[in-house]
Amino acid sequence: MRVTVGVSGGIAAYKAAELVRALQRQALEVHVVMTEAATHFVQPLTFAALTGHRVITSLWDESAADSGSPIEHIDEAQWTEALVVAPATASILAKFAHGIADDFLTTMYLATRAPVLVAPAMNVNMWEHSATQNNLEILRQRGVRVVDPGTGDLACGMVGAGRMAEPESIAEAILNMLGHRHDLAGEAVLVTAGGTREALDPVRFLGNRSSGKMGYALAEAAHARGAKVILISGPSPLYPPANCEVIRVTTAEEMREAVLARMDESSIVIKAAAVADYRPVVVSEQKLKRTGPMTLELAPTEDILAEVMRRRHPGQLVIGFAAETENIAENGRAKLLRKGADAIVVNDVAGANVGIDADTNAVTFLTLSTATEMPEMPKRKLADRILDEILTLRRPKQMVMELDGASGAMQALEEAVTVRRPIIVE
Ligand code: CTP
Repeated sequence: MRVTVGVSGGIAAYKAAELVRALQRQALEVHVVMTEAATHFVQPLTFAALTGHRVITSLWDESAADSGSPIEHIDEAQWTEALVVAPATASILAKFAHGIADDFLTTMYLATRAPVLVAPAMNVNMWEHSATQNNLEILRQRGVRVVDPGTGDLACGMVGAGRMAEPESIAEAILNMLGHRHDLAGEAVLVTAGGTREALDPVRFLGNRSSGKMGYALAEAAHARGAKVILISGPSPLYPPANCEVIRVTTAEEMREAVLARMDESSIVIKAAAVADYRPVVVSEQKLKRTGPMTLELAPTEDILAEVMRRRHPGQLVIGFAAETENIAENGRAKLLRKGADAIVVNDVAGANVGIDADTNAVTFLTLSTATEMPEMPKRKLADRILDEILTLRRPKQMVMELDGASGAMQALEEAVTVRRPIIVE
């Protein structure tokens, strides 16, 4: 895999050499881009010798044109599979956050669709300044990973947070970001996310509090593990994960159409969206006036999951979600049976920090024969756990191979039938 290490101007620039080595040990191909300020701390030659590639230091480098690439920042942006900035100065973070593109690295940041990771390093006061923290928040919301600096003696003589994380930890974060587990390679995952909105009049709608965080985390995790991802999203303030195909919809009916149009291409369908169960029968063309008490007539929307189950093709896994506020386990199991999906991820949305709109979630992954509790954790981590469980649903083939004798094979075949997988006879 290909990684671009961006080095900006800080004392920790020398540690970027160790980072390059750590990445090369993982068989990654590394290019280095330096800001002008960084060249005052480390010579480009150091990185050129380590990587065996020319180090890019300017948008106006004549040797770039010589190498046959007049718009090198675009070439590099397309070449790379991860952009890592270590050290990332306060200035680089600010430029990234605000889209200022005035040198090679900042221009490349805007031009690339690869995931981005930054490892900040600076003086403690600069780190704690609300300008820096606000910029980091903007970047995080946009999906940029941040490897926080450590605390200790700083080059400026002060003590506190601001020391760049150790190169090995940064390398590890990059490997995680690149999803070194490629166990979903060859799969096409369709994820629905967010809530739908059903219009009442030109300005009002019936909606729900779903933010799309869980579905976006699943899409990001599936892509990181090698899957092709189609993300069908209701309105969401989130920045979509890089390299996923995103289809935006508003109503339950639009989501239904998008899912049905694309489900045949997918091997796994994950229905994390909070689809409206009802829509107003009449949508007023004019803004509704306040004229006293009002009764709305609602009609049920189509159950998309039920339709997916009717149309699914052999070998396609279908996973539903269930948002419950009471009798979680029973309601979840009843829903699993009713919907006929391979599994249901049951979400207790009554808890304070978990479920709808929260950054963490705790769920139970229910199949007909298993209930796997997943305790509260960040949604991105949970996404990986859910994908791990989904992959176990592909196990019947292994079971046939592992189990000895005819009775074992029969058991495996029964399991295959129960989860409606094609029966595999070895
Ligand atoms: N779902 C769907 N189409 C709908 C409603 C829900 O595809 N019109 C899907 C959701 O995406 C989710 C699953 O069905 O994967 C369960 O959603 P949930 O709202 O918990 O269940 P409902 O079937 O609506 O049942 P109820 O609201 O009565 O609990």
